[in-house]
Amino acid sequence: MTPSRRPSLGDAARGRILYGGDYNPEQWPEPVWHEDMELMREAGVNLATVGVFSWARLEPRPGARDFGWLDRVLDLLHASGVGACLATPTASPPPWMGARHPETLPRDETGAVVWYGSRNHFCASSPVYRDHALRITADLADRYGDHPALRLWHVNNEYGTACWCDTTARHFRRWLRTRYGSLEALNEAWGTAFWSQRYDSWGEIIPPRRAQYMANPTQELDFRRFTSDALLECFTAERDVLVERTPHIPVTTNFMPFFVGQDGWAWAEREDVVSVDLYPDPADPEGPDGGAWGALVQDLTRSQARGPWLLMEQAAGPVNWRGVNHPRPEGLTRLWSLQAVARGADGICFFQWRQSRQGSEKFHSGMVGHAGARGRTFRQVRELGADLGRLAGVTGAPVTARAAVLHDWNAWWATLSAGRPSSRLTYEQPLRAWHRALWESHLTCDFAHPEAELDGYALVAAPHLYLLTDAALDNLAAYVRGGGTLVCGFFTGVADEDDRVREGGVDARLRTVLGIGTVHEWWPLDEGEAQPLTPLSGADATGTLWREDIETAGAETVAAYRGGELDGRPAVTRHAFGDGTAWYLSTLPDPAALRALLSRAAGEADVRPPLPGLPAGVEAVRRGAWLFLLNHRREPTAVPLPAPATDLLTGRRYEREAPLGRYGAAVLRGEPPAPGGGG
Ligand code: GLA
Repeated sequence: MTPSRRPSLGDAARGRILYGGDYNPEQWPEPVWHEDMELMREAGVNLATVGVFSWARLEPRPGARDFGWLDRVLDLLHASGVGACLATPTASPPPWMGARHPETLPRDETGAVVWYGSRNHFCASSPVYRDHALRITADLADRYGDHPALRLWHVNNEYGTACWCDTTARHFRRWLRTRYGSLEALNEAWGTAFWSQRYDSWGEIIPPRRAQYMANPTQELDFRRFTSDALLECFTAERDVLVERTPHIPVTTNFMPFFVGQDGWAWAEREDVVSVDLYPDPADPEGPDGGAWGALVQDLTRSQARGPWLLMEQAAGPVNWRGVNHPRPEGLTRLWSLQAVARGADGICFFQWRQSRQGSEKFHSGMVGHAGARGRTFRQVRELGADLGRLAGVTGAPVTARAAVLHDWNAWWATLSAGRPSSRLTYEQPLRAWHRALWESHLTCDFAHPEAELDGYALVAAPHLYLLTDAALDNLAAYVRGGGTLVCGFFTGVADEDDRVREGGVDARLRTVLGIGTVHEWWPLDEGEAQPLTPLSGADATGTLWREDIETAGAETVAAYRGGELDGRPAVTRHAFGDGTAWYLSTLPDPAALRALLSRAAGEADVRPPLPGLPAGVEAVRRGAWLFLLNHRREPTAVPLPAPATDLLTGRRYEREAPLGRYGAAVLRGEPPAPGGGG
C-alpha cells in the first residue's frame, strides 16, 4: 500500500477536528437513537464509531445477515451531520462460531480453551475464523461502501489475543521456515545446543507452551514476533477487502497504548490512519500514569503515524478496570484532549457515547453517563466540542520535535524472558522515566526505531535497548559520527537479534562510540536500594535499579558511584566521537538528576523548550504556527510571553503573560507587537 495513493485522516476529517466516540445503538431501543442524534448535535459530535461489537447482531446465525438496523443508524447519523467510523466486528465472534467451530477459540500456554462469553476469543491462525471475518467484512463494505456517512474503516478492536493451539503451532512453523530457511539455521539462532533442545524436524517445534522450567528465550522472542505478524495478517486481509471495495475510505485499527503485543512500527506502516486508545489515570494527574503517560503515548502514536493521528478512545469519566476507578476532576478531560491535539491528534474520540446499562462495562463512563444530558460529564463533553470547533485551523499541522527517543518492540520482547540479571528491570521503566524527564523539562520528542533515519534530530535518547541489530548499531554510530548527540542508557546493545549476548557483553561498536573499554559486570540494585552518585549539576544524586562496573576508554566521567563496591567507578560518561557526542548512563538516576542530565545534553545540542521560563507543571508544545500551553496542576499559574499572542480558545490577547487556570490551557498564535508595545 503506497500511503501517498491512499486516503488519509485529512480526508475523513474534512478540515475539522474529528470529535465523537464509540456508538453502540444496538444496546438501546430506537427512540433513544433520536435523542442521541439531538445530543450529538448539541455536543458538536461529528464522528461515531459503530459496529465494533455487533457481529452477533449482524450475523445472528452462520451466513444470515441483519443489516436493517445498521442501515437506519447510518442514515440517522448522516441526517444529523455525523460521519461514521464503521467497524468490522471481528474482535468478538458470535457464540455460534465457538460452539460450531471450537478450533476458532484460542488456547492458553497450558492448552486450556479460552471460551466465548467475553470478547477477543479468536485464534488468529484459524482459517475458519479468518474466512468468516473476511465474509462479514466484504458484506459490510459492499453494503455501506457508498453510504454518505462513511468516513473511516475501523478494523477489529485492539488486536492482542495470543494463542498456543495446534493450528497456531503449524502456522508458527511456516513462519519459522520463512525466517530461517533451514532447521540448522533455526537451531543456531535459538541456541538449542543448550539444555539438549536441538530440533530434528520441523514437526517437533511448538509454541512456547507451559514447560517444566525456563523456556528457550529466542523461541519466546520469535513467538512474540510471530504472534504480532499473525494478527497483522488478519488486519491486512480485512484491510485489503475494504481497500478493494472502497479505495476512497481510509482504514485504521485502534492500538492499545504502548502495547507489548503488536510491533507498532510494522503495524502503522500498513494503516492509512494511526489511532490509539488512551486511558491516563485521573487519580493522580501529575503522576507517572497521568499527563506524562498521555504525552508518551501521544508522541509514540504521532511518530508511528508520521503526522496527524486519531485518539480513538478515552474515557469521559471513570473506567471500570482499575482497582479503584476515579472520575476525572473538572477540567481534566479538556486538558488531556487538548494535550492530544497539541501532540498531533486531529481527532478526539471516547469510549463510548452512551454509558451501557448492562454488560461488563456498565460502570465505565460514557460521554452521556447514567446521569444523562444533565450530568456534569455531558456538560464537559459539550464544552469540549465547542473548544475543538475553534481549533479546526490546527488540523494537519506538524509537531516540532528536535529530539527522539528510540523504541523497538523486539528489544522490549527480548527483555520479557526469565533468567536475567534482575527481574526488577523492565523495558518500560527506564523508557518511561526518561520520557517523563524530557516531558518535565519541556522538551518535545518523537519516538523512532533504532534503524530509522535520525539525521533530523539534534538529540537522540536510547533509554534501554537491550537488543540491537547490526543495522541499528551502525545507524547509531553513523548518527554520532555525523554530529548527533546520543544519550544511551544502561544494558543497551547487549544482545543481537537472536538474543545472543554480544562479545564483551556490550557490542564493541557501541562501546567505541561511547568511549567505554570494558564492561566488567552488571550490578543491579534491589527494591528500595539507592546508590549515591557524585553530585550532578551541583546537587546530590542517586542511582536506582541498575549499576555497571565499566572502564572508560576515552570518555570523561560526568558522575561516579559514591560508596559501596563500585565506589569511584564511572556512572555517567560523555564522549566526543566523530563530530558528535555520546553519553552513557549506567544507572537510572533519580528524577531530578535525570532531568538535569538530559537537559544538559539537550542544551549542548541546542535543543531547548519552546519558551524560556516555563513554570513546572506546564507543558508547552509547538504545533505548526500554534503554541499549546497546558497546566497539569490544580493551582493556577501564568506563563511569561516573549511577545503578545492571541488565544484561539478564548479569543483573548495576552501582552506579557498567559494566565492558565486549574488544568487550564491556551492555544496561542503570536502577533506582531502592538504599536508602542513591548516584546
Ligand atoms: C478498550 C476497548 C473498548 C472498551 C474500553 C474500556 O479501549 O477498545 O471496547 O472496552 O477499553 O476502557
